[in-house]
Parts: sequence; C-alpha cells; structure tokens
Amino acid sequence: MTLVPNVHEAEPIPAAARDAIDALMKSGDLFRYTAPQDAPVALLETEFAELLGTKYALAVSSCSAALFLSLKALGLPRDARVLIPGFTFAAVPSSIVHADCIPVLCEVGDNYRVDVADFAAKLDSVQAVIISHMRGHTSDIDAIMELCDALDIPVIEDAAHSLGTTWHGRNIGTIGKVGCFSFQSYKMINAGEGGILVSDDADLVAQAVIMSGAYEHNWKKHSGSSELEQAFAKWQNRLPLYNLRMSNLSAAVIRPQIPELARRVRDGLANHDYVADRLNTSPYIDVPAPLAPEQRAPDSIQFNLVDLNDEEIRAFAAAAEARGVKVQVFGMSQDNARAFWNWQFLPEQFDLPQTRAMLMKACDVRLPVRLTREELDVIADILLASIGEVVGPMPVYGT
Ligand SMILES: Cc1ncc(COP(=O)(O)O)c(C=O)c1O
Repeated sequence: MTLVPNVHEAEPIPAAARDAIDALMKSGDLFRYTAPQDAPVALLETEFAELLGTKYALAVSSCSAALFLSLKALGLPRDARVLIPGFTFAAVPSSIVHADCIPVLCEVGDNYRVDVADFAAKLDSVQAVIISHMRGHTSDIDAIMELCDALDIPVIEDAAHSLGTTWHGRNIGTIGKVGCFSFQSYKMINAGEGGILVSDDADLVAQAVIMSGAYEHNWKKHSGSSELEQAFAKWQNRLPLYNLRMSNLSAAVIRPQIPELARRVRDGLANHDYVADRLNTSPYIDVPAPLAPEQRAPDSIQFNLVDLNDEEIRAFAAAAEARGVKVQVFGMSQDNARAFWNWQFLPEQFDLPQTRAMLMKACDVRLPVRLTREELDVIADILLASIGEVVGPMPVYGT
C-alpha cells in the first residue's frame, strides 16, 4: 500500500552542491566579493541570466529583497502608489512598505489571476506595478503590459512561483522591466533562502547592484556591458547600501539545481495535470484551466470548491487532514499570509469582495515534483473521498 506522501519534504540537493560547499569550507571564501572573479554568486548570476535570456541578473538574500531593490531602483518618491494583486503573499506589500511606498490592491478572479478591468480602473492612480503570478498562475501579462506601457508605468514581475513558466514561449519574469525570483524552500530551486532579479535595463541593474551592497568598486565583479559600466560610474557613491547580498554558500546550493530545472518543470506540470484531471471529475471541485499562452511550472495545486458553504468547506479540509492531506483554504484561517485582510500593516485597507469570495473557497495543496503516480493517486483519492464525506458519494451511472 502506498503511504500518504510527506508533501513538505523537498527533493534532495544534488551531490555536486556538497563538493562545492566542501571547497568553500576549506577556503573559508564565503563572501561574494572576496575572490577577484568567478565567485559562486557571480557564476550563478551569469548562468541565471543565460537561462532566462536576460542581459543581467543580481542574486540577493531573498525575493523580498529583490522586490525592494527593484522598487528603490525605479527611483519612486516616498508615498508613491504601487498596484498589486489582492491575492499574493504578505511579503509583497511588505516590500512596498519597506520602500516607503503605498500598496494599492486590485481584484483577482476565480482563476487566481489579476482582474484586468479592476487593474485598468486603478492604474491611473499609481506610479508602479508589481504583478505576482501567484502560485505560478500567470495573469494576462499582454493586457497588463499594454495598459502599463500606454501610461509609461513600470512593471515588476514577482515570479517567485514562476521559475520555468512561459508565456507565448517567453520566460515569465522577463516581460516586465524587472523580474524577481525566490529560492526559498518551497520553490522550484531550493536554497532555504535566496532571491534573484533579472532585467535588461542597465541603469536599473547598476542601482540595484550598488544598493544590494556592492560598496566601493565591488561592482566591477559583476559581469556586464559597457552600458552597465557607465551606469555604475554614474551611480557611484550616490546610493545607500542596504546589504542584501547573497552568500557564496547559497549560490553553491543553487547552481547544481539549475540543470535539474527542466526535469522538475516537466514532472511538476505532468503531476499537476494528472491530479487536476482526477479532481475535475467531481462536480464540487474546479481546477481553473491555464490561459492559452501559458505553459505552467507548478509544484502545488489550487482548486475551488463549488456549491459548498463555509461549514462544508471546513468539514472538507478537516476530513482531508484526518486522512493525512493538508488542504489550506486561503481565506479560512485566522492568520493566512495570503489573505489580504490579514495585512493589517498596510497604510490603507482595501475592500475586494470578488477576491475575498475566491479566497474563501480556494484550496491549496502542495504537490512536490518528486511525487510518484501512486502517491499522486493517494492524494487525489483522499481529496475526492473527503468531498464525498461532506456531500455524499458521487453517483455512478450504469450503461
Ligand atoms: C508570491 C510571493 N512573492 C514573493 C515572495 C517572497 O519570497 P522570499 O521568501 O524569497 O522573500 C513569496 C514567498 O514565498 C511569495 O509567495
């Protein structure tokens, strides 16, 4: 019998990372700017920019740090307003508050993507936009870019959950002015903590590099272009140093995982679609379809409960948990960091009835890419049985 898998267990880190860490332990060379060249962090930046197809990458301590530095590098004045989806992780509005700006929230649809009509209605009042492709569900980035370009509003893509996702074949995170990724544990590439930003904009990158902690002339250790060098010269001594650098140890853990990414994306998508097909056999479950231009890279599954009241939704989550599968209903717990009404630190509060209704019925289940078909079946069986426990078994029609 296949046991219920532990979905909080990550895939083992490739053995090559251990050799790289061993070498760092022997040399003690953990700081990215000690070596004159080819430090693991610098190599990671070159490899990541190549992977994504961007001119530049800057590795930092977290995706939150990447978002914060992106906002600072846009030169936004104090109290600038920044539009974000009402469904994202609390770290995103937090990065805006950290940058002395004001988060403005727009509605999100039942498919977890930005409601473009509400986004367009609020765009006039903001100076920048962060699009969180939450849980890797890509918002209509064509429509968003068209609206933002028309008003000359910069777009930061929060691609924390989107490494490996493409849109019309183009990598998510490379469509806006800057893209930010996370290497925190529950991500496609796991370093415990870490983040990286990518961009083709030399002026923005030079500022982000300096503010990340490239003091004095350490920026010379960033590979780049003459355009980037000119930008560094322009910004030298003119920016604060926030010291959000990545350590060589993190880069040593990340680099050997880059060659694993294509397999992880392929397996994650196949696993997701397999479970989605099984769940969609229930009239009480709806797994929203991807948008047409989108090729997803999921390591979790989200689905909406249909025609169930709050009590039944709680009973479903409890039944699944009793059987060993943790279902997070985003809006149902007191402290969920993805429920916008729990962001009580915001300078302004927002009423988003559509997003609230979605969060009260949207479920989240981790599906690490390493799971086998048998383990996926165990999870799908438990979810379907738990629905059956709440609403009665599914009718079986004879021929
Ligand atoms: C959507 C989203 N954006 C940004 C972040 C921030 O990432 P980090 O933990 O690397 O700061 C997270 C964290 O999980 C997230 O879920």
